[in-house]
Amino acid sequence: MAANWKMYKTTGQTTAFFQQFKAELNGSESCEIVVFPTTLCIPAAVEAASGTSIYIGGQNIYWCREGAYTGEISGEMLHDAGATWTLIGHSERRQYFCETDANVLKKTQAALEAGLTPVVCVGERLEEHQAGKVHDVLIRQFAGGIAGLTEEQFARIVIAYEPVWAIGTGKTATPEIAADAHRLIRSEAEKRFGAEAAQELRILYGGSVKPDNIGGLMAEAEIDGALVGGASLDPHSFAKIVSAG
Ligand code: PGA
Repeated sequence: MAANWKMYKTTGQTTAFFQQFKAELNGSESCEIVVFPTTLCIPAAVEAASGTSIYIGGQNIYWCREGAYTGEISGEMLHDAGATWTLIGHSERRQYFCETDANVLKKTQAALEAGLTPVVCVGERLEEHQAGKVHDVLIRQFAGGIAGLTEEQFARIVIAYEPVWAIGTGKTATPEIAADAHRLIRSEAEKRFGAEAAQELRILYGGSVKPDNIGGLMAEAEIDGALVGGASLDPHSFAKIVSAG
């Protein structure tokens, strides 16, 4: 269960979140949990989560180790700050910061080289959804952004299916729609990396996940977890979502 905080929360708010979240979990983490705060709040989150099994991740990296790339942060730098995971290719990065499938592949490879677990995000936009192009989009994103990994690299990634029309809109994909997309992704994985790798692959669903819809989503065998935005900002609601995992 993953929390994507996007551009929300200060250091003080990060520490306060973990105080309440840990109390709500009460030591009974039922599944793997990872929180993606803003980069500046990673040290505070790492400190607040120490002694628990909660992982901390970054929301983005640049693919070079270092260099004259003003404003960017490398995987090594995130790792040095205590992060062990990173999001790659979130739809907001694709939409507002011109990220392409080719960039996604380079960033995924850089994350793995830095020892981070990448959550590679894919998903169709509203007009693509309405035009019945979901499978075409997912096949294109998989071919351009994921298929270029080696088998060894592929075994270390997690994929998040996030239909863009469901992100922050309150419109969740039905469990059936999400499961259908997950099956398609898994079958692309099988074609490229083999049946065992496809079976081992973890695919998270993201897009308006809330405490009251997580149960239906997790009841689908194809859905291995959730990437939660808005509802993960509140420790009580994220703890409820985690307990459904
Ligand atoms: P949301 O965001 O849960 O607020 O829809 C999900 C995401 O963008 O990862």
